[in-house]
Amino acid sequence: MGIMKIFIDSADLNEIKEAVSIGVIDGCTTNPSLLAKVGRKIETAIPEICEIVDGPVSAEVVAVECNEIVDEGRKLAKLHKNVVVKVPLIVEGLKAVRIFTKEGIKTNVTLCFSANQALLAAKAGATYISPFIGRLDDTSHEGMPLIEDIVRIYDNYDLETQVLTASVRNPTHVVQAALAGSHCATLPFSIIKQLLKHPLTDSGLAQFLADHKKAAAAAK
Ligand code: G3P
Repeated sequence: MGIMKIFIDSADLNEIKEAVSIGVIDGCTTNPSLLAKVGRKIETAIPEICEIVDGPVSAEVVAVECNEIVDEGRKLAKLHKNVVVKVPLIVEGLKAVRIFTKEGIKTNVTLCFSANQALLAAKAGATYISPFIGRLDDTSHEGMPLIEDIVRIYDNYDLETQVLTASVRNPTHVVQAALAGSHCATLPFSIIKQLLKHPLTDSGLAQFLADHKKAAAAAK
């Protein structure tokens, strides 16, 4: 399956651009809250994000009834070839996912909090399942074992649905997701930056540069 894919969880064009420039971003996920945060409408923001990110870009429906989800999702899918329609993990959502799957529209089933929900989403043909780890942690229920369970269940049956670890709150979540074999993780920009940071890297580099300067000045 290759190395764990890293998506940016954001609708902020500036931070998406900055993250993409590092060269480690494989896709992007958005949701209504992230769009509200930057004051953008989905119809105009998603095509702009797709111009920056060369990979899957999740755009979430706000309808909650199957036919309405399908109408909304079809419109979102037409915005750009890289759009993945994000659908909530409810009965009507899974009915819509089955239809999208038949039509070849990719889906990201979101707001997953249990392995049984993930099992049913895979049966409906979801391209991605998004278990929300941080929000489980918030309820004093450790989130990461859910990722391990879903990865194992999908492996048991060779299911093609990819586990997209979401609601990531710290760098440890990212390590744990990779150890569990999560196919992808979506990270806020702040976490992407934290992944790169280590104080020993900074102090080590400062020492190397200082020694080089000293040696260059002394060398004949
Ligand atoms: O993309 C949805 C998910 O990552 C939300 O995260 O921090 O709002 O729980 P959070």
